[in-house]
Amino acid sequence: MKESIFEVELNEKIAPRTYRIKLKGDTSAIEGSGQFVQVSLPGFFLRRPISIHEYDGQTLTLIYRVVGEGTRMMCSLQCGDTLSIITGLGKCFDIDACRKDALLIGGGVGAAPLYELCKELCAQGKNVTVILGFNRKDEIMLAEDFSDLGAKVIITTVDGSEGTKGFVTDALSLHNINYDYFYTCGPRVMMKAVCERIHTGGEVSMEERMGCGFGICYGCTCNTTKGPQRVCKDGPVFKKEEVIW
Ligand SMILES: Cc1cc2nc3c(=O)[nH]c(=O)nc-3n(C[C@H](O)[C@H](O)[C@H](O)COP(=O)(O)OP(=O)(O)OC[C@H]3O[C@@H](n4cnc5c(N)ncnc54)[C@H](O)[C@@H]3O)c2cc1C
Ligand code: FES
Repeated sequence: MKESIFEVELNEKIAPRTYRIKLKGDTSAIEGSGQFVQVSLPGFFLRRPISIHEYDGQTLTLIYRVVGEGTRMMCSLQCGDTLSIITGLGKCFDIDACRKDALLIGGGVGAAPLYELCKELCAQGKNVTVILGFNRKDEIMLAEDFSDLGAKVIITTVDGSEGTKGFVTDALSLHNINYDYFYTCGPRVMMKAVCERIHTGGEVSMEERMGCGFGICYGCTCNTTKGPQRVCKDGPVFKKEEVIW
């Protein structure tokens, strides 16, 4: 892991209460999709954990939803502002676990880390289907971005204002999707339902409140078949069968 200074290049609204922030800085500690960063915000003691949406040799892009004081402050950041960020945190998705056909399931802002994963899977020549679940049409984000990578995208909305009406699990029943492995990120209740519904192997990206973010404080443990595990260090990506819901 590495702490370095990043400069804001772009901070734009992409959906209600949801922003894309592109930062320029040292990304050399990032190993791949599924990892997260810890963002230090001026005036806040604890860093905020945010998943990597996309990165390259010089830039890091995050997608964040405004839920409290820290993320509210983040959306006021301007181009040229600087932030201290710890990169290279957490375990990556295992892209080799998928043989040929991957299914990615994202709920709300949980779609964000699946984008870099989709890039990696497509680069390996794998077929990718993405199910994105939202409450309403105006919350839909990233659908075109996934399509542009070559993925087949299925949208669900709870109110039926776009795509399949209902939850991501309804799309699983209605669409004949070919996959040998799945990856999911989103609300806990959604990921639990996905794991109960799907019988192939798969991985989930867990979320817990964090203190240090790198394994020292044990403030982020979740129950697993291996006993309590730290989401920041042993996760955030866990195998489906490891998680005790
Ligand atoms: C591994 C990981 C990846 C994440 N990736 C994303 C992402 O890509 N996009 C996104 O919008 N959100 C993501 N989150 C959730 C994000 O960290 C919280 O929404 C954010 O910290 C809230 O900060 P706040 O100051 O606005 O809220 P406040 O409620 O004011 O925060 C108070 C404290 O609680 C912590 N906290 C509050 N909600 C959460 C939460 N859901 N998870 C962890 N800590 C929380 C804050 O970090 C802070 O320390 C992720 C969380 C984890 C653990
Ligand atoms: S946040 Fe400190 S051990 Fe995970």
